[in-house]
Amino acid sequence: MALLAPSILSANFGNLDKDVEMINSSEADWFHIDIMDGVFVPNISFGFPVLEAVNKKAKKIKDAHLMIVNPSQYFQTFKNLGIDYITVHYEACIHLHRTIQEIKNLGMKAGVALNPHTNINLLDDTIQDLDLVLVMTVNPGFGGQKFIENSYKKIASCKDLIIQKNSQALIQVDGGVSLENAKKLTDVGADVLVAGSSIFNAKDPIQMIKDLKNSTN
Ligand code: DX5
Ligand code: ZN
Repeated sequence: MALLAPSILSANFGNLDKDVEMINSSEADWFHIDIMDGVFVPNISFGFPVLEAVNKKAKKIKDAHLMIVNPSQYFQTFKNLGIDYITVHYEACIHLHRTIQEIKNLGMKAGVALNPHTNINLLDDTIQDLDLVLVMTVNPGFGGQKFIENSYKKIASCKDLIIQKNSQALIQVDGGVSLENAKKLTDVGADVLVAGSSIFNAKDPIQMIKDLKNSTN
């Protein structure tokens, strides 16, 4: 069964506590927290005051997806806020190897996200150091976008690379994940499914979380 990480980007920010409690009481495994800076992606999500509020209530693993340039400057702050996984974008890091080590040296798990146009083979020399690879299945920046079908092939290549290099990295997918593709995604190698709109737009989000997880069996 896949791990499920609801993306709070699609939560109701007018009543965030309620949605955080909903995730706490559900079968979801992680909180997926999207940080956008309006530079790396054409959108701004939320900053540290909101993250602090989420963090106070959130009782599961916290996974921060940083869609920002110069991510290193904030690692210590994320650590202080109790973040477990930090995922940076391959396209935003000139010195990716150093960036990964900085995350790990602070005692957090390190992930690298790849935009849809970025080839898996570019992780050839870093995959052994990674705890997670995030295969973006939409272009980052917004919730509610259409899943890119080429992603299945890409996830399978990522799985091959992980096996070939004997890496422990989990494969996470993010963007357009729903009941229609969850099983297919895990069948090609995804370990962690991020889902925003499919959960928060559902009539019964707790049931949707259960259904999404069960569908991957
Ligand atoms: C997009 C974010 C996603 C987003 C996914 O840039 O990284 O985490 O919240 O939303 P859905 O599941 O609606 O595509
Ligand atoms: Zn995300």
